Amino acid sequence: MPVLFHYKGEKMAVASCNSDLHGHGDAIRAELGRLIPRDKKVKVLDVGTGFGINVAFLAGWLSKGSAVWTVDPSKEVLADVKAALDEESARLVRFAVATADDLDFEDGYFDYVVSVMVLHHIEKLQPALREMARVLKRGGTLVVVDYKPEASRELEFKSRHEEADFFEAAAVAKAMGRLGMEGTPHDFGIWYLVEAKKVRASGSRPAARAGRARARAAR
Ligand SMILES: C[S@@+](CC[C@H](N)C(=O)[O-])C[C@H]1O[C@@H](n2cnc3c(N)ncnc32)[C@H](O)[C@@H]1O
Repeated sequence: MPVLFHYKGEKMAVASCNSDLHGHGDAIRAELGRLIPRDKKVKVLDVGTGFGINVAFLAGWLSKGSAVWTVDPSKEVLADVKAALDEESARLVRFAVATADDLDFEDGYFDYVVSVMVLHHIEKLQPALREMARVLKRGGTLVVVDYKPEASRELEFKSRHEEADFFEAAAVAKAMGRLGMEGTPHDFGIWYLVEAKKVRASGSRPAARAGRARARAAR
């Protein structure tokens, strides 16, 4: 599928950009498929639309009647991915401009919140994880996938990333622990996955923002 990625003013096809998540796309999708059921109606949030690889997978994977939202700070990224999705996926997916630490959705809205190869774009881990956990319902699952710090030396990125941009899986799991979620890290060589179930309700967002979120969810 000719999904385009838009970053810092440059537009490129996925294949020429980083070849399906540096060749790890299939393995990542296999893990996500293990965690996210395809035989149940679920609401899923994809944080960091990027190339559209993960949201395209979710749109094809989830059962009919499921809902998929994808958010990215870049309007251009969203427009490009929307245009590149096939017709059926485009009908299923809803798009919104947002950052991981400021999501315009009400508390406990999603069954799954998934973020693939985005944490290394984010400066502060805790506010992003707290917000992703907030929009998860109790019993819902947060799944975060990212490259490890050594990826900064071993992989070629279109935009430069320092080693310090990347988090260790243990640090992500620990940060989830501080939110009362027990994060389980899984090691896949150059990338990792951390999954955590939300076992208790988390803090709400301020009332003004919550009103906006309700209005959006109703649309
Ligand atoms: C490598 S791409 C993600 C790949 C994507 N998940 C996929 O499956 O194709 C990184 C994306 O994260 C977005 N991003 C950067 N900072 C972010 C933030 N604070 N919150 C959410 N997304 C962010 C960028 O705009 C970019 O589109």
